[in-house]
Amino acid sequence: MLEGALLDQLVERGFAVSDALLDHALVRDLSRDLCTALDAGALHEAAVGKSRTRQTAIRGDRTLWIEADPAHPARAALLAALDDLAQSLNRSLMLGIDHVEAHYAAYPAGATYARHRDRFRDDDARVISFTCYLNETWRTEDGGCLRLYAPDPVDVLPVLGRCTLFRSDTIEHEVLPATRTRLSIAGWFRRRDAVLRR
Ligand code: OGA
Ligand code: MN
Repeated sequence: MLEGALLDQLVERGFAVSDALLDHALVRDLSRDLCTALDAGALHEAAVGKSRTRQTAIRGDRTLWIEADPAHPARAALLAALDDLAQSLNRSLMLGIDHVEAHYAAYPAGATYARHRDRFRDDDARVISFTCYLNETWRTEDGGCLRLYAPDPVDVLPVLGRCTLFRSDTIEHEVLPATRTRLSIAGWFRRRDAVLRR
């Protein structure tokens, strides 16, 4: 459940950070599931923008879209939790979210994601962005912060279970380099496609 204080932060500052948004047992299962997928070579070089072109200078992560696959119960549980979150966001803020998409991401040591916004220029379906970090024993000196420009920079250390929510349309952000592999989930709460709303 989304607490009022978190919603207030999201409305007032355009972003919110919480270590309690997802159940800790689920976070551990997701972390293990991502490590297994990474070891099995299931993550692929990420693409940039709707054209899906590869640009490692812009982003250096490898990703895997999360589907509600019975073979991976943690993935189905995450999507269910994000659906619950979507209901709360809709109830409180009337955002008209009707779909959530999410992927696992792994940034090798030194990899970054240059400053950007998550809403595509030609598609305004993404309303709220979500991240959750899956790194065991992450320390400040490991780096890899998510820097949110709100508009002043706010750094979020990617420790196990820490989650963020931020506006996809206004909040610029970047991923800073880490000294070790950085594991995360990135997700987007979406409205119906623009075409259907016209
Ligand atoms: C993204 C992104 C941030 C993070 O995937 O669009 O900005 O901290 N990720 O992983
Ligand atoms: Mn982003």
